[in-house]
Amino acid sequence: MASLAATSESVQRPLERLFPSGFIWGAATAAYQIEGAVDAGGRGESIWDRFSATPGKVRNGESGAIACDFYNRYPDDIRLMRDLGLDAFRFSIAWPRVIPNGRGAVSAEGLDFYDRLVDELLANGVTPFATLYHWDLPQVLEDSGGWPARETIDAFVEYVEVVAHRLGDRVPYWITHNEPWVAASHGYGSGVHAPGRSSRAEAFAAAHHMLVSHGHAVEVLRRESPEAQVGIALSMCPVYEASPSEGNRAAARIVDGLGNRWFLDPIFRGSYPEDIVAFLGEDAPTVEPGDLDAIAAPIDFLGINNYFREVVEAGETPEHPHIVRDASWDFTDMGWEIYPDGLFDLLQRVHDDYTPPSIYITENGAAFADNRAHDGAVRDPERTRYLEGYIEAVGRAIQSGVPVDGYFAWSFLDNFEWAYGYAKRFGLVHVDFHTLERTPKGSFYWYRDLIARSRAGDAVPIPQP
Ligand code: FCB
Repeated sequence: MASLAATSESVQRPLERLFPSGFIWGAATAAYQIEGAVDAGGRGESIWDRFSATPGKVRNGESGAIACDFYNRYPDDIRLMRDLGLDAFRFSIAWPRVIPNGRGAVSAEGLDFYDRLVDELLANGVTPFATLYHWDLPQVLEDSGGWPARETIDAFVEYVEVVAHRLGDRVPYWITHNEPWVAASHGYGSGVHAPGRSSRAEAFAAAHHMLVSHGHAVEVLRRESPEAQVGIALSMCPVYEASPSEGNRAAARIVDGLGNRWFLDPIFRGSYPEDIVAFLGEDAPTVEPGDLDAIAAPIDFLGINNYFREVVEAGETPEHPHIVRDASWDFTDMGWEIYPDGLFDLLQRVHDDYTPPSIYITENGAAFADNRAHDGAVRDPERTRYLEGYIEAVGRAIQSGVPVDGYFAWSFLDNFEWAYGYAKRFGLVHVDFHTLERTPKGSFYWYRDLIARSRAGDAVPIPQP
């Protein structure tokens, strides 16, 4: 491992002066992307195990079977988090590790793992932010209908109860779901993610059931973890019209409605957006009495995952808005546009339209094709620039009165990037997937210095809105 005294790519700008003291600096991960050890302790099969084992679904037939082996290496990784100076670590709990058959018998070994993880984080001064669902549904539940089936709501709530009962005294921040839009649209709509079904009606049924299960989970968490803050992490893109025209504006409104308002409206206003309900026609989900009240359960914070923006123009029909890409823009290795002002605009808009009491950026980051050089270092100035731009946008939003209380870089480690397998590296820490050796990248040192400077006591007071 390269020495932590290696050269920093620190940029001498007073970025830290945009953040109040007490601002939470974090990094994020998800269970299936890092844990590996898929058979340890009687863990059950998840939809991602099955999907990865299905030929043609994941690049090179790769899977999370070993991933970063975080299951066994977490004490070393937490030491690295301490070197980085993280205030908080966002991880997810694997439902099939805790309840291998989806419902019923609890695996003591599975639950013990998360118990040890939480204690190790706390012992190292790192605050646990636990996500309860980051896409790894037990396969048995998919076999009995998956998220499009209403019964999955009850199964999720039972699982949340088990986890919160055990960890609720020590986990101060809970995230019910990660990106229900992506889980539903990629998993059940386009089929590019597990479980790989493709039906618009199923995708919207899945999203609705995830949202209802979120609402019920909030109630359970209030009971089992009364001191904790509870929220949900939504994937969000600011949407812009390519040029001002009525058609482009309508197209942008649909893209924004499907990806953003479809989730924000029920959570903060207790209703689905009418224009999108009409747009979906018979593919709109069946909403039972009480569902919308459940979804609108008050939350303590909104988690925003943002990577890029969408620029939209009218397509041939309203059903097919056209996403514009200009070759002169900057893109990451995912082909995602680098546009930090988009995060500023998004934060302003969410604050103005929905006024969440508190916001955390629960994911933001970039994939680049990083290599470990002969001297053992991993230089990733592009990632440092990306982070600097986006973090500056967050700081600016705070200065203009948006209540952002923390930022989580995606990701702490290079990991299994879903259908891309191991081809996309998002980590602050490089992982050699043959030896599993960890090497902090240049961006790690840059982030470490930023965190240290922001703690140095010269943070400025933040204007009250
Ligand atoms: C988000 C996911 C996360 C990771 C990043 C790159 O949509 O929540 O697991 O894959 O994208």
